Amino acid sequence: MSRPQQALHALGRSRFVDDIPAPSGALHAAVSCSPHPHAGVRGLDTAAALAVEGVVGVLTARDIPGANAIGIVVGDEPLLAEDSVHYAGQPLALVLARNPEQARRGAAAIRLDAEPLPVMADPRRAREEGRLFAPARTFGCGDVEAAWSRCAHVVGGRVACGGQEQLYLETQSSLAIPRDDGSLLIHSSTQNPSGVQAAISRVLGVPMHQVEVDVGRVGGGFGGKESQASAWATLAALGARLSGQAVKLVLRRGEDMRMTGKRHPYQADFRIGLDPEGRILAYEVDFIQNAGAYTDLSLAVLERSLFHANGSYRIPNLRATGWSCRTNLPPFTAMRGFGAPQAAFVIEAAIRRAAGQSGIPAEQIQRLSLLDEDDHFHYGMAAERCQARRCWDQAHQDFGVERWRADVDGYNAAHPLSKKGLALTPICFGISFTHLPLNQGSALVHGYLDGSIGFSTGAVEMGQGVTAKLCRVAAASLGVPLERIRAETTNTTRVANGSASAASVTADLNGKALAKACGALRERLLQVAAEQLSAPVEGLSLKAGRVARAGRPTELSWEALVQSAYERRISLSAQAHYSTPGLEFDTTRQAGHPFAYHVYGTAVTEVRLDCLRGTYRIGPVRILHDAGASLHPEIDRGQVEGAVVQGIGWITSEELIYDAEGRLLTDALATYKIPDGPSSPEIEVRFLSDAAEPAGLLNAKAVGEPPFLYGVGAYTALLDAIGAFRPERDSALDAPLTPERVLMALVG
Ligand code: MTE
Ligand code: MOS
Repeated sequence: MSRPQQALHALGRSRFVDDIPAPSGALHAAVSCSPHPHAGVRGLDTAAALAVEGVVGVLTARDIPGANAIGIVVGDEPLLAEDSVHYAGQPLALVLARNPEQARRGAAAIRLDAEPLPVMADPRRAREEGRLFAPARTFGCGDVEAAWSRCAHVVGGRVACGGQEQLYLETQSSLAIPRDDGSLLIHSSTQNPSGVQAAISRVLGVPMHQVEVDVGRVGGGFGGKESQASAWATLAALGARLSGQAVKLVLRRGEDMRMTGKRHPYQADFRIGLDPEGRILAYEVDFIQNAGAYTDLSLAVLERSLFHANGSYRIPNLRATGWSCRTNLPPFTAMRGFGAPQAAFVIEAAIRRAAGQSGIPAEQIQRLSLLDEDDHFHYGMAAERCQARRCWDQAHQDFGVERWRADVDGYNAAHPLSKKGLALTPICFGISFTHLPLNQGSALVHGYLDGSIGFSTGAVEMGQGVTAKLCRVAAASLGVPLERIRAETTNTTRVANGSASAASVTADLNGKALAKACGALRERLLQVAAEQLSAPVEGLSLKAGRVARAGRPTELSWEALVQSAYERRISLSAQAHYSTPGLEFDTTRQAGHPFAYHVYGTAVTEVRLDCLRGTYRIGPVRILHDAGASLHPEIDRGQVEGAVVQGIGWITSEELIYDAEGRLLTDALATYKIPDGPSSPEIEVRFLSDAAEPAGLLNAKAVGEPPFLYGVGAYTALLDAIGAFRPERDSALDAPLTPERVLMALVG
């Protein structure tokens, strides 16, 4: 294995797009964007920009040789605005200059002559006016209407949760290099190299084989570079194509925060019905999604909310309906969890509301309704190998929840102005892209004559550790030490038509393709070994850098075997393709088998609240997580810890504030508060034992997004603490539960 990613990061040696040395003569680009959230464009005056020292060109929509369309699903989004703008921050023109400062000065000099139009920021109003990206969609099971009358308690409410900035450390970046034959090499900080390639091909009007996208690593994506890296890569490509020079485009933090899409804010109306003991009998929810100005991935995000409407619970009568509403904000997009966190938030909020009104403890409602192995999801799929109850029970036992609860009660009795809250958060997350064709991956493996191995897949390394996992897969399959293996960059010329590294399935899809490719190479080489050793191939294997016979090492080393295969003119390369078996979904019945498997877990979250100030301290958070038979426990632990902190940020301190004109006011880390080291909780992660998942990669489960949902526990634990101070307070508060909002709940 080449030097591990983590070591390079720790040493400050990892290179990101802006660190790649640009060819001589390279130009730097800056983007001029709309100050108006909604306006008709009368004209764009670029003369002043061209007069700025160092500026060599200004490109507008008129300069686009192909289609002015970058939408990933629907072609509704222009790369550069033409006769109207639909959000503040929408790109209008690209300025090319000798250095980045000159380019920015040029961009600032561009004048937009616009006629302001009415601004729509409220998704409920947008829904009333029919501003939808698609007709409403409903998922469900049972008969909700008939069920209400059988419920002992029926409780309704309305709740909202906010959006969230992905806040990857590396801002959106790209470097486009023209080559002598007219083709382009693109370095892009993208989760989706093939998506970038397709967008550039469409916008430039050139075949895809003219565009090679290469990704060494991405400095964090969190969904924000699944569809939305394309615009910046395409702008750089456009500049390179038209100027004949390399073009680098790197957004500054504020630009990135203002111009790119984030997690969708949701509003929701719900109604939940319980039997006398507290079992959930019926649940109805309307998700009103603020989708922003263009479709982007909003419909897929909304679909995942519908899939995850039930949280981790068995709900025999369920109806979930979603509206994707068009507003004048930057198009909201993928972010870790992809619609599932919003759904988890609403059901957990609904359970608290029902607990408050029925007097049944929330924990009892949760426990009685946990999904079990013989249950079905509301979309028809059986909850096979369901681990919800095992996680819950083991969390209860391992973390001593009963005693913990008694300690919290004791603390609360002794402290009139400080209250603790405790909450359990069971999670469930379906693994697979819900857009069926995306569930495929490919790999290419080369054995070299010295016995070293290089492989390529469609997987993008963005800090989630997929490279280390893939190296383990290759090493296990070929029986060689990790030092022999190198993961190559993700490159559309070596591995074509890859899916975005997203939906937490990157390791599954690419790892299975890689295992297949390595397996083919192994079988070929073992044939050679059989001839060389004059032994039947059946008893041979590759182990610790040698050929083994009946499990015992022979004198034939991996290196000698590779040499021998080469001399016999046998290929040392292999390519393989994998597609997830058994997936199907009928969109007329909204039923089928959309996921390869589900990930489960339970978090126990404590908070301590200062009831005079509304300030709080979150933690400890103790988590019993189902990682299957983890392929890399250190990485998986890091993923769980990072996700839960990010989830807590979303539900507590991260607040997107726009002015009346739809302009983002919280466009810097001084005003947009993410969890920092000191405010992050103590986190304990344990993995469920005996949890091998046959549908996973080497029996491991995907881990990237599901633990984000544990963050909701900070919200419910805060409700618990607020309830200890003001028992009469009704408990459907909106998120994020900032200290300001908590204070208003305590005194309001
Ligand atoms: N972890 C780090 N360090 N950086 C990231 O950008 N993205 C998350 C998650 N964990 C991310 C991360 C998201 S949104 C997804 S979908 C998965 O990683 C994608 O990678 P995987 O499929 O390999 O889990
Ligand atoms: Mo993750 S939101 O699927 O990139």
